Amino acid sequence: MQVPPTGHDPVLLNEILEWCSPHDGQLVVDATVGRGGHSLALAKAIAPHGTLIGMDYDPRNLAYARDRLAKSDLTTQVRLFHANFSELIEVLRQANHPRVDLILADLGVSTNQLFEQEYGLSFSNPVPLDMRLDPRNPLTARTIVNTWSEQKLATVLYELADERFSRRIAKKIVEARKRSPINTTDELADLVRSVVPVPRGSDRSIPIDPATRTFLALRMVVNGEMENLEKLLRVAPDHLKPGGKIAIISFHSTEDRLVKHVFRSAEQTGQLKVLTSKPIVPSETEIQANPRSRSAKLRVAERL
Ligand SMILES: C[S@@+](CC[C@H](N)C(=O)[O-])C[C@H]1O[C@@H](n2cnc3c(N)ncnc32)[C@H](O)[C@@H]1O
Repeated sequence: MQVPPTGHDPVLLNEILEWCSPHDGQLVVDATVGRGGHSLALAKAIAPHGTLIGMDYDPRNLAYARDRLAKSDLTTQVRLFHANFSELIEVLRQANHPRVDLILADLGVSTNQLFEQEYGLSFSNPVPLDMRLDPRNPLTARTIVNTWSEQKLATVLYELADERFSRRIAKKIVEARKRSPINTTDELADLVRSVVPVPRGSDRSIPIDPATRTFLALRMVVNGEMENLEKLLRVAPDHLKPGGKIAIISFHSTEDRLVKHVFRSAEQTGQLKVLTSKPIVPSETEIQANPRSRSAKLRVAERL
């Protein structure tokens, strides 16, 4: 897969603008600034009087986005924070804006993070097994595969990535590390490939590497992705103005189920109104132009 010139193409951008209708003077939070694609469009939509508050827990992406936004002749006020979106309350306190008009989170990783060697997420190159997007985080994928019990490994593979061969993979990892520690992404990918069959008879145009789900589950554990999302969803509605919107783009079923469930519960208590009865998905044209958008699902809710 090609990495776009900016490192990442924002997904469902038109749909975000359509469903969230950002406009002049609004206060908008981009909780996952990434390479700045959504931020830039939002900042333009709320110009000239609006304020964009952005955060990312990867300081490298944040620095890129800061530079990109600075070069874009924006009149909007932009405030960027190196923060985990689970720290939303602290960021809003620092920004001195306790309630906002829109909170957007575009979950997961940007395309450049998948391919740049320093992140240790790429399984096509032999790079150290790291997977941390936030350098403040002490836990690496290397620690997990070399120290966690077989049972615990199998559970995370199954629960976070729906990996059908979770037990087989966990057993193989534990056998292999008795001989020598698993240090690099290609070592781990080869172990998984040796016990997981290549998907057959599928009509997918892009072949899926058998190691994909294992890498997804490990990345999610290392970065605490489900815990962060739970925390964001728990606190975000309280920080929306009446009529303010929360929009979440997720990329796999575990995340989407959580978003759907939390939105529905908040609807039952009268805090939110769910605007998207079914998740919004990318058009065929977007999928053709950006195959990584294929699994994206957008849900939007409004504060009552
Ligand atoms: C899919 S990318 C976002 C791309 C962005 N919308 C754009 O247009 O370039 C996800 C970004 O969110 C960041 N991220 C993921 N989880 C986060 C969290 N809990 N807190 C802060 N940033 C997070 C990642 O580091 C990555 O840069």
